[in-house]
Amino acid sequence: MRKALITGISGQDGSYLAELLLAKGYEVHGLVRRSSNTVRARLDHLFGDPTIYNQKLFLHYADIDDTTTIRRLLIRIQPTEVYHLAGQSHVGASFEIPESTCEFTAMGTLRLLEVLRDLPERPRMMQISSSEIFGRPSDAPQDESTPMNPVSPYGVAKAFATQMVRVYRDSFGFFACNAICFNHESPRRGESFVTRKISLAAARIKLGLQKTLTLGNLDAQRDWGYAPEYVEAFWKILQHDTPDDYVIATGKSHTLGEFLEAAFGSVDLEWRDHVQTDPKYMRPAESHRLVGNPKHAIETLDWQPRTKAPELAALMVEHDLQAIRSHG
Ligand code: GDD
Repeated sequence: MRKALITGISGQDGSYLAELLLAKGYEVHGLVRRSSNTVRARLDHLFGDPTIYNQKLFLHYADIDDTTTIRRLLIRIQPTEVYHLAGQSHVGASFEIPESTCEFTAMGTLRLLEVLRDLPERPRMMQISSSEIFGRPSDAPQDESTPMNPVSPYGVAKAFATQMVRVYRDSFGFFACNAICFNHESPRRGESFVTRKISLAAARIKLGLQKTLTLGNLDAQRDWGYAPEYVEAFWKILQHDTPDDYVIATGKSHTLGEFLEAAFGSVDLEWRDHVQTDPKYMRPAESHRLVGNPKHAIETLDWQPRTKAPELAALMVEHDLQAIRSHG
């Protein structure tokens, strides 16, 4: 029986990954924070299925800094694969809460590696890294060999975690890998991230529930992909013969204006009539020219990003329209 442990199972990626692994016949264990009130939202359909919840899917309470509980769970569950997705993932927020961001994202990864180091049967391990490690890169697109140059506390924490995974792989023979993910979105994206903020606003404006959308830096450019496709890459990374790092991206960058155009345009709205800016959403420093080169993942893992950003924008707006129409 293949058993997976997912830290951060209640997040966007965790929920898609849980579905993928269950469909592949895995027994899936997830770590959730006791204080998290969004625990169930993205997993509700799995909880509601008596053939899945507590049969093939199990949740355990453990904060990512609770090393003793995590060690106990790992010894008891004996997973064959560990997907480490948990952490404070909002780049803007990391400027306000740098210490806890580093505590969870940087030290949380190191603590997990230390626990794994002592296990008699060490599972394969994947850490979700981020394009934020590149910060302001001198070259575009970025690949696995692009130097790290983070410009946010979050980026610094991810750079630490990414390099630590490499150190444990090279020094202790871990099967440990980094998925260096560029932005990836979906209808399950948290509402404070820009794509979901846009899709919700476009839907509400279309339905006459809202008039304006207030954003920060409109010059931002990102390589936006579709989250369910990215978790397929996570799985493939751990099935490969050898451990390695992989950039997971679409290879195409878009401006925020282009994303707005696609989202608002999909419901026949002109975004310029509704969008305003407020410095409170600007960050003290921004990553620039982020665009990934996924060649290594495409060639080695036989993985493909399929959904393009304009299509992604439209599907997110469509989902939010339907959800608001049915639930308000
Ligand atoms: N969140 C947000 N809110 N971002 C805004 C806004 C706004 O009102 N207005 C403009 N932006 C700009 C940000 O300044 C940034 O340049 C871009 O939109 C994207 O912001 P986010 O959606 O918050 O994502 P991110 O790029 O900072 O980080 C995400 O992607 C990383 C790379 O994959 C997060 O998911 C990270 O956890 C992830 O590592």
